[in-house]
Amino acid sequence: MASYEIVGSEPLRGEVHVSGSKNAALYAVAATLLTSEEVVLHNVPLIADIDELTDIMAGLGTLVKNDGHSVTLKTDSIKSTVPTPESVRKLRASFLLVGALLGREGSATCPPPGGDVIGSRPLDIHLAGFRALGAEVRLEENNWVVQVSTGLVGTRIFFDYPSVLGTVNLLLASVLAKGVTTIVNCAAEPEVEMVANLLNAMGAQIVGQGTAHISVTGVSKLHGCEFKIIPDRLEAGTLLLAAVATRGAVQVTNAVPAHLDSLLSKLEEIGVSVHYDRSGFLEDEAIHVSCERTLQPISVQAVPYPGFATDLHPPMASALTQIPGVSFVHERVYDNRTLYVSELRKMGAQITLGSSTSVVIEGPSRLLGAKVNALDIRAGAAVVVAALCAEGATVVEDIHHLDRGYEDLAGSLTALGANITRR
Ligand code: EPU
Repeated sequence: MASYEIVGSEPLRGEVHVSGSKNAALYAVAATLLTSEEVVLHNVPLIADIDELTDIMAGLGTLVKNDGHSVTLKTDSIKSTVPTPESVRKLRASFLLVGALLGREGSATCPPPGGDVIGSRPLDIHLAGFRALGAEVRLEENNWVVQVSTGLVGTRIFFDYPSVLGTVNLLLASVLAKGVTTIVNCAAEPEVEMVANLLNAMGAQIVGQGTAHISVTGVSKLHGCEFKIIPDRLEAGTLLLAAVATRGAVQVTNAVPAHLDSLLSKLEEIGVSVHYDRSGFLEDEAIHVSCERTLQPISVQAVPYPGFATDLHPPMASALTQIPGVSFVHERVYDNRTLYVSELRKMGAQITLGSSTSVVIEGPSRLLGAKVNALDIRAGAAVVVAALCAEGATVVEDIHHLDRGYEDLAGSLTALGANITRR
């Protein structure tokens, strides 16, 4: 199993480019299944989860051509409505193929998906949504069988919780349905907004994306298009937090500051100097952080967008170990996001669980290199950030989790002066 060796305690300095968004690219790849025409996606990150999803789609009939950060997908016809179970169990986003297959073919058979072990992660919101559109949903030998005989029909759906993949799954199922589908209390994450924009570029009629009410007027057919994936706000956030943890000065480019409002405002509350163009919401923008002032502890809660992202909770906690005073992180999205705490404690962090979803951090902690594990993608980011401020060498094992979500985390950190080696 691959590992990183990181020798820490130097401030990160310099400029680094952010990749295309992992999650947005996964949603976009799944969305291409809804047309027989060619869709070309640009700015796709080179990560394991994208390879896994395109492999599953190849088994369903999709022709996939990779050309660096561009991927061309064409699904002339659906050869199978049963995504390979072993692959589906590796990533949560594979369950989006159910919405896409239901939308295009009227049926799908899929086991519960895998993904990070960060909470119970049920599928009730997805399945209730499919049922509301007229599909029959049943569990047969641990496979979800979702079918419609006379076509899906749009309706008004209320989500108990603004599930991200639940919203995308319902968008994929409803774009070719009859009539209007409205989802109230849907997810407003930029990745959801982007996939709705992609579907519109393919001929769909979606309004309200990026808000808590989304409306889809069904169309009879979608067509091909070319589309650019948005920058990865979670990679940008991880790199900015690594800069803060090491008291460095870093500029990230190809970031959308408007997607990072919650993080940037928390960094300013900590006392970090944050610079970006506050007048615009353009892509390809730069965000600069530096730490000249005395830093203050904070309280932060991870909630749905536009609140503080749950995926940035673990690396934020690592950065807070370096800030004088008592900080609190409350996790309100997942019930098992705090696995990283035990790893940070191995390095000497004064971090404790108030409950399974709340963390108390007393800083600054003197961190020492240790042997730790990347327990999931973002728990892995947490130990990497901590290792960058630790004295001596830290070995981070199981970095295949990081490879699932970050194109080249070691390369980005090396560009900022970190001493990190992949073994
Ligand atoms: N939930 C339900 N029922 C459902 C679906 C979700 O109760 O049917 C609950 C979950 O148990 C959880 C909460 O709702 O407590 C949030 O889940 P959500 O459905 O919003 O998350 P997701 O769509 O499964 C995506 C990302 C996650 C990211 C979350 C929140 C992908 C593949 N995953 O997951 O990203 O943390 O949204 O923003 O896009 C990652 O990138 O490392 C990652 C885990």
